[in-house]
Amino acid sequence: MPQQARDERQPVDRPANEQPVDGGTSFGPEDPWAPLVEVAFQPPGTGETVYERYLETQALYQLQLPRPPLGHHDEFLFRTVHQACELWMNLMSFELTTVLALLAHERAPEALRLLRRVVLAGRLVVRQLELMETMSAWDYHGIRRKLSGGSGLQSPSFPNLLRLGHQVWDHFEALRQHAGLALPEVYTRRYDHPLLHELAEALVDLDETVQSFRYHHYKLAQRMIGTSVIGTGGVQVEALERSIHRSLFPELWRVRDALTARASSTYE
Ligand code: HEM
Repeated sequence: MPQQARDERQPVDRPANEQPVDGGTSFGPEDPWAPLVEVAFQPPGTGETVYERYLETQALYQLQLPRPPLGHHDEFLFRTVHQACELWMNLMSFELTTVLALLAHERAPEALRLLRRVVLAGRLVVRQLELMETMSAWDYHGIRRKLSGGSGLQSPSFPNLLRLGHQVWDHFEALRQHAGLALPEVYTRRYDHPLLHELAEALVDLDETVQSFRYHHYKLAQRMIGTSVIGTGGVQVEALERSIHRSLFPELWRVRDALTARASSTYE
């Protein structure tokens, strides 16, 4: 698509005979402005600077634009947030793959650094869900009707990162056994084995981040489409709530019970 400079863009005229469905506070599923914005909005830049070529900004902006016609004003946000989440989750998988290689070569300090990066990227994904909450529940239907069978269930990166997370656990367990420690001792003897303790805590952070994503995603879905509703992928929103309690590393949560029981026996 040929690019127009920013100052050449035409101002958007409001259609005289069309008003937002609720008198101005919301566009509603029938968004009369979408076609106008679609014509007026042009992604910026020429794509010719070193910066733009390196980052492929033109291709990136094209991906961000909904396939025409723009179903609804909020579709731009909807695509952007999903795409950004997919990119961050893909980065998480990339780093987890490196973590696996590092742990296999007994390079735990570097693995720990990348594991912390994975957690931070995961928290960024969770924060982005908040942006989606700026959509009105009524407006969202202007996008939903365009999705047909499209669903987050088909996300390639989410299950991939869960799978890699499980593999990291296997490596952690091998390190723990090699050190001759029972899992509670990773905590009670943490000064003797600080790296194992830090790895365990980074895995708890990762697990908590995934659970936090599941929780906030459930609340988002509930907020947008309701609770006793079947999603576009055929799953009820209530099932998303149940998934919140799934854990990547249940042993790391159970060990807390064991530690509390052990500590309690000394002072009860
Ligand atoms: C309007 C916003 C959203 C709604 C209403 C929504 C709704 C749903 C629903 C109902 C499901 C269950 C499967 C189905 O029947 O479709 C689901 C699954 C999923 N969604 Fe969303 N979602 C939203 C935004 C997002 C965003 C921003 C992401 C980020 C990538 C996302 C990622 C996922 C993933 C990964 C699953 C599969 C979960 C699993 O396998 O446990 N969703 N979504």
